[in-house]
Amino acid sequence: MERKDFLKQSLALCGLSLIPAGIIQSCSKQNFAGPANVNFTLDLSSSANAALNIVGGSLLTNGVLVIHTTASVYHALSPTCTHAGCTVNYSPGSGVVICPCHGGTFNATTGAVLGGPPPSGLTTYTVTQAGTILTIKS
Ligand code: FES
Repeated sequence: MERKDFLKQSLALCGLSLIPAGIIQSCSKQNFAGPANVNFTLDLSSSANAALNIVGGSLLTNGVLVIHTTASVYHALSPTCTHAGCTVNYSPGSGVVICPCHGGTFNATTGAVLGGPPPSGLTTYTVTQAGTILTIKS
C-alpha cells in the first residue's frame, strides 16, 4: 500500500469513528422534559377553549396539553414525547395519551409510561378550577 493510500484509509477510519460519538452526544443533549415555569389560565367560557367543555376533550395551548378526563377533572401534561420529541395526543375516553411516532403510550392522569419506547413519563402540571377559570402551573 502506498503512503497516500494508507493516509486516506486512516483518515476515513478516524472520521467514521468520530461521527457516531458526535451523533450520540448531540442526541443526549436534547431535552424532552416539556415547558418549565408554566403559569397560565384558561377561561372555559371562551370559544377558544371550547374543546375542554366536553369530557374527553383536550387542548394544546401555551405548550401544554390540557385534558378533560372526567366530569370536572382536568389534567395537564407536557405534549412532548420523552422518546424522540414528537407531539403526543389524547385518545378521548381511553385515559391514554398516545405518541404517533413510535406508539409510545402514557397515562393521561399521571403522565407515566404505559408502553412503547419512551424512557420516562410526561411532565405533569397542576390544574385548579375556580368557576370557569382553569389555572395551570408547574
Ligand atoms: S417519539 Fe414518541 S414513541 Fe418515539
